[in-house]
Amino acid sequence: MPVEHLAIIMDGNGRWATERNLSRSDGHRAGAKQIAKVVEAAREFGIKYLTVYAFSTENWKRPADEVRVLMELISEFSSNSLSDMLKNGVRLRTIGRTDDLPLISRTALKQAIKATENNRDFTITVALSYGGRAELIDGMNKMLKERKSDEPLTEAEFRNYLYAPDIPDPDLLIRTGGEMRISNFLLWQLSYSELYVTPVYWPDFGREELKKALDSFAARDRRFGGLNDKK
Ligand code: IPE
Ligand code: IPE
Ligand code: MG
Repeated sequence: MPVEHLAIIMDGNGRWATERNLSRSDGHRAGAKQIAKVVEAAREFGIKYLTVYAFSTENWKRPADEVRVLMELISEFSSNSLSDMLKNGVRLRTIGRTDDLPLISRTALKQAIKATENNRDFTITVALSYGGRAELIDGMNKMLKERKSDEPLTEAEFRNYLYAPDIPDPDLLIRTGGEMRISNFLLWQLSYSELYVTPVYWPDFGREELKKALDSFAARDRRFGGLNDKK
């Protein structure tokens, strides 16, 4: 089975920069540049959906200067990558509590989302002010307001209250930077995703590293709790 949806926790920008005597913000700048390269490689490898964790609900705890740079990079990414996205049939979406972002970032995002909304070849979803628990709580609150039925809730129905119910669950989750944790990413959707953790920092993660992750995925035996009949 190929990877249709790849999710990535883009971690390690700060350590990448510190090891080079650069500022953490320089690390984030280098990391932001990497996204376009990975989108290009993912398209080449036949992936249809890429979801990247760019800013968590917990990342608001970081120093104000660092948060400011990250917010600027969001606006820059939206504006700078728009022409490439239009050329390559790439659709941009976001998940998360994006109302918490500064107006300038929201405006740039909104423009790029609107301009690319009819593209269907590839979808990049950027998780911004995203938390897996926040997503579940936001979904439950929406459901409590809207749901009329007395029938017991099913997984299929609840899915409709998530931020992007139409996007299939990730086949593969890559975390760069070596930490062996989920850090509140896609708690519902990752139930049966294959995990791949690499020590490589996000600014160094490119086509070759992605190829290694996809090769590892190709050798996995996905059982989904059942048994595979080949053995
Ligand atoms: C990931 O890099 C980017 C964000 C969380 C916004 P980090 O900034 O977490 O880098 P490290 O983990 O400190 O190296
Ligand atoms: C996860 O990285 C969030 C993003 C990559 C956006 P963190 O660096 O925030 O995660 P922890 O704090 O190491 O768990
Ligand atoms: Mg980190």
